[in-house]
Formats: sequence, C-alpha cells, structure tokens
Amino acid sequence: MSASISPWTASGMKDKNRSLEAPVREFLEQIVREPSRHALFMNMLSMLEHMGSRKIMLSQMNRVLTEDTLSHLSEEARHAYFFKRHAERIGGEKLDGFTEENTLCRVPALMYFGRLDAGITKEVGEEAAYPWVSLVIELRACWLYEIYQDVLERSGVALSLTALLAEEDQHLADMFAQCGAQYDLLKKLSAYETGLFVKFWQKLDDSFAAVLLQAAE
Ligand SMILES: [Fe+2]
Ligand SMILES: [Fe+2]
Repeated sequence: MSASISPWTASGMKDKNRSLEAPVREFLEQIVREPSRHALFMNMLSMLEHMGSRKIMLSQMNRVLTEDTLSHLSEEARHAYFFKRHAERIGGEKLDGFTEENTLCRVPALMYFGRLDAGITKEVGEEAAYPWVSLVIELRACWLYEIYQDVLERSGVALSLTALLAEEDQHLADMFAQCGAQYDLLKKLSAYETGLFVKFWQKLDDSFAAVLLQAAE
C-alpha cells in the first residue's frame, strides 16, 4: 500500500529544496574550475562521509551487528576514501587528516553534522537514531551528489560519482524501509536538516544568503 511512495515524496525534501538547486549548482560550477579549492571541498566531503561511517559504528556498539549495517558503514568509509583520494589527485598534494588548512569550512561542516545528529536523536531517541539520522542524511547526499555529478559531467572534470550515487540511492531506500511509514516525522526531520544545511552552505558561499534562507522557513 505505502510501498510505492518514494522517500522524496514522503519527505517533501525536493520541493522544499527547489530554490537551493540553482545557487548550489552555481557554487559547484565555480569550485570545480579551481582545482586547489575543489580539493579542499572534496576533503570536506571525505570528512563528512568518515563521520557518517564512524557514527554508524558507534551506534551499533551495544547491538547485534548485522551484515546490512556492516555493509552500510563500510560503504560510507569507502566514500570517505574515495573523496580523499580524488581530492589529493585533483589538488596535486597530500591532504592528511581534516585540518583547518586542508578542509573547506571544517567547523561549519562539523557543526552541521553534530547538530543534525543531536537534534534527530533527541526527537526519535537513541534506539531509533541510526536509521533516522541516516535516512535524512541520505536524502541530502543523493540530492547534492546528483547536482554535483551533473556539474562534473558538463565541466569535463575527470571524476564520476555514478557508482557512489548508486550506493547512496540504495542506502536511502534501505533506511526509508527501516523507518517505516511515519511520513509526518520524516517531513519534520527533513525540514530540520534543510535549515541546518542552509546555514552550513551559507558559510561555504556567503553570496547565497537571501535565497537560501527562504528554504529554511
Ligand atoms: Fe556516503
Ligand atoms: Fe550513504
């Protein structure tokens, strides 16, 4: 009955983020033209993927670890590796760790992740935090990487997110199935994430300001 509804429809995420698409695309179009900044941006994505993987691991410490969860966390760890490897290739230098110098907007990225995790955990409780935090993050990952992939393709930068996107799509479907048909809660949590994403993205590019704020309302 509810099986045919997509996470996009159920969350209302794409509609709510419509006004963000153009400015985010514009930012990405600019950054892929500047290899050294592009590298710092990718190292930031690597940090977020790494945090995601680590968070899944920590959330499972006192549970029975399943193959599905292990697969999920290992794929996020691989995404972290993927972005760091390509950041180093495109930037032409080693980017060890995630420092102020080698990670674009390091602190706002940390705050985005930390607040998202804390806010959602507070809402759904520790027990249900893993699938809910993941579901909301996967919506953002799929949304952002789709635009990013399109920008990379058009700009001729030799980097493909196709395989990574397919994995994020699968995570999204898995987490959506795990969370069940609580669509009002999903809408609420996704809107909360959009507010945090807007604040975070403004730190990446402060020329967005006004347009982005509308979406946070
Ligand atoms: Fe990922
Ligand atoms: Fe994922």
